[in-house]
Amino acid sequence: MAFKITDSITYVGKIDWELRKFHGEEFSTQRGSSYNSYLIRDEKNVLIDTVWEPFSQEFVEKLKKEIDLKDIDYIIALHNEIDHSGALLDLMAEIPDTPIYCSANGKKIIQSRFQKDWNFVEVKTGDRLNIGSRELIFIEARMLHWPDSMFCYLTKDNILFSNDGFGQHYASELMYNDLVDQAELYSEALKYYANILAPFSKLVTAKINEIVKMELPINMICPSHGVIWRDNPFQIVHKYLEWADDYQENQITIIYDTMWKATRRMAEEIAAGIREVNPEITVKIYHSAKSDLTEVVGEVFRSKAIAVGSPTVNNGYLSSIAAIMTEIKGMKFKNKKAVPFGSYGWSGEVIKLLGEELGKAGFEVIDDGVRLLWTPDEDGLAQCVELGKKLAQSIE
Ligand code: FEO
Repeated sequence: MAFKITDSITYVGKIDWELRKFHGEEFSTQRGSSYNSYLIRDEKNVLIDTVWEPFSQEFVEKLKKEIDLKDIDYIIALHNEIDHSGALLDLMAEIPDTPIYCSANGKKIIQSRFQKDWNFVEVKTGDRLNIGSRELIFIEARMLHWPDSMFCYLTKDNILFSNDGFGQHYASELMYNDLVDQAELYSEALKYYANILAPFSKLVTAKINEIVKMELPINMICPSHGVIWRDNPFQIVHKYLEWADDYQENQITIIYDTMWKATRRMAEEIAAGIREVNPEITVKIYHSAKSDLTEVVGEVFRSKAIAVGSPTVNNGYLSSIAAIMTEIKGMKFKNKKAVPFGSYGWSGEVIKLLGEELGKAGFEVIDDGVRLLWTPDEDGLAQCVELGKKLAQSIE
């Protein structure tokens, strides 16, 4: 798909409506995604990023319809995860001498992946590339979210090409932020932030402040996934600052796995306790084995507190809870409360273990939790209600 963004900038990327999993099986993409690539025409013609490997040949063939490939003077590789550099091999087979502008880390990643010694030009923050009537200014954005990540800014048009930053795994033929459903857009943008950028929140804040200090006017932000921010592009910048600042909504998320519904009953009673204290707290309950991991991580990101429950099985917790714990530990969430809970038949060490793991994941564990033998009785369920109340009170 190609369409003009301005008279001299053409979108030449790929909208992928089929994608349902990204980063292997790690990130669910229920609304697909896009791999955005941009062609800038000036005295020198510039291609910014390519697309994911499976679409490589299609990308090159479609690009040929837009421009004679020999007329591309510079390729900019802002970030070299394979969803953006995946078409380089096919493209460079046609124009092997074209310089590739990338960061020093970007060069290493491309060389490692393709084993080619192409004409690399290493750039760093502040470097400029004159393309005729305009300049490209490079801004390194290390660890947002890879060590090679970089933004670049196009003068005169005042466009920030932000690669993964401000992106969303969100397929739409509309392609502009003002044309799409706002709830869908922000749901996907938040899910993207929570699952990809949250561990680097301090760097997000610092990078945004650095760009603000550069006093570059920005008319449009063109990310490498999802829609282009052309209507009030700073709205997503402000959201990022909010999300990077230990973001929280008035929400508690309860996550459990269960074998014979005892731990599920406990989860529901914890929810009842929260409601008793404050019915305005949003309570969401997820059965981890039946839920989308990416979505659950997004809900934990929104939450002030969580409760995590599992029965004790073979001295440990169930595997879906292990997966959730691994994921939320990696996200390095801060300033959130937590409690463990679960049923057991004989040894019952999971509750202590879960509490320890929640602590290691950066949560403030406000109670040892509730541990119930076999099927919960009235007294046990009442303990769960009290745990829910304590959790709700802890966030007031
Ligand atoms: Fe969209 Fe980090 O690649």
